[in-house]
Amino acid sequence: MASNTFKEPKYGLSLTGKLSLVMYLAFLVVPNALVNTARSVFTALRRGVPVRMYITAAVLGASLGGLTPRQLQYVTNTSIHAYRAWMKSMVAKAQKRGQTNLLASLQSEIQPLPDGRSSILWMGNRKTATKFVLFFHGGGYVAPLLEGHLEWCWRVFVQPFVGTQNEVAVAILDYTLCPDAQFPTQLKQAVAAMEALSGTGIKPQQILIGGDSAGGNLTAHLLHHIAHPDSGSDSGVTPLHIAEPLLGAFLVSPWISADVSQRSFVENHGIDMLTAKHITDASRSFYGAGIYKTDMLQEAYAVFDGMESVVSDVLVTAGQQEVLRDQAVILVDRLRNLNPNLKTKFEVANDEGHDFILLEGGDRWTGPAMERMRAWATELIQGA
Ligand SMILES: *[C@@H]1O[C@H](CO)[C@@H](O)[C@H](O)[C@H]1NC(C)=O
Ligand SMILES: *[C@@H]1O[C@H](CO)[C@@H](O)[C@H](O)[C@H]1NC(C)=O
Repeated sequence: MASNTFKEPKYGLSLTGKLSLVMYLAFLVVPNALVNTARSVFTALRRGVPVRMYITAAVLGASLGGLTPRQLQYVTNTSIHAYRAWMKSMVAKAQKRGQTNLLASLQSEIQPLPDGRSSILWMGNRKTATKFVLFFHGGGYVAPLLEGHLEWCWRVFVQPFVGTQNEVAVAILDYTLCPDAQFPTQLKQAVAAMEALSGTGIKPQQILIGGDSAGGNLTAHLLHHIAHPDSGSDSGVTPLHIAEPLLGAFLVSPWISADVSQRSFVENHGIDMLTAKHITDASRSFYGAGIYKTDMLQEAYAVFDGMESVVSDVLVTAGQQEVLRDQAVILVDRLRNLNPNLKTKFEVANDEGHDFILLEGGDRWTGPAMERMRAWATELIQGA
């Protein structure tokens, strides 16, 4: 069935797309990146926050911000490509260092999902694992999985537990990017991934779900869908019944709304990796004309109720210096008010901008953002 018809995504580009890409790279990226970097260094110094990460964020924001989704995908290649390349380099490294105990956790395995265009990319040893992370990568629903995501999953969830009684395997969802698909395709694929996990006997109390940025958006959609399968925005998505709450959910710098009027957008414009324009553009490509009809912050206040029966423990993180900070504040506020018995942890890091855990991963560095997530996850992974 599925495996015979599974087609790996492939990103081509029209001739005009290629030409404008060349022009863009030649004439805009470098000046953009320089201007952004200068501004970021200045602001970082003034605010007394670490300069190095801000330079990375400035260059990322400048170079990627001006590309169309197609151009971006052409330049970065597919999630499967990133996954294979990372696995290969990790295996080579483990062999060189004689860390043969890690090899069973570094076997590439791509499990196609029934729709034939999405899949689970496995990390860790799923035969010995007792806990599972269903991971949704960020990138505005237009950018693929990055090496930084893989490093983060490895360093936080998998590697620390290799050889213990609580091994962890991570199921990275390779969902279809926009514009090849729009909402709710990605939600349907997330539901299919959950079904694939439970189909092999994995219980909700063994599962953590989560992701960064757009991955936080998808996490919120999945939680909402489990609680309210029949709500208007989810029409056509198969309901997902779980017999007990999930072990946990993490939302890193989550993108919750197309509304960019919060204060944090003004305060952190020009220093963060993202701008209001990124959010507006990404919201349009994700929802098309359906924007605002399905917006979580514009809809009824009670949209995040009923979470206590869906998940036991939630972690939301944000950077004090990021444009999406206030969306996270609003989300946490609603989660807490509507679900007084849900364990909801909110971490706002003073020195950080958008998605710094991803930047740490890109640096192959277990920094403060990873340490904090590891502290939260370890308790859940080792408990019960
Ligand atoms: C993209 O990935 C595919 C498959 O891994 C590979 O064959 C191709 O050369 C890559 N393209 C670029 C531009 O790196
Ligand atoms: C996902 O992003 C869209 C577009 O900005 C937004 O309207 C929606 O509320 C977000 N969904 C969730 C569950 O946060």
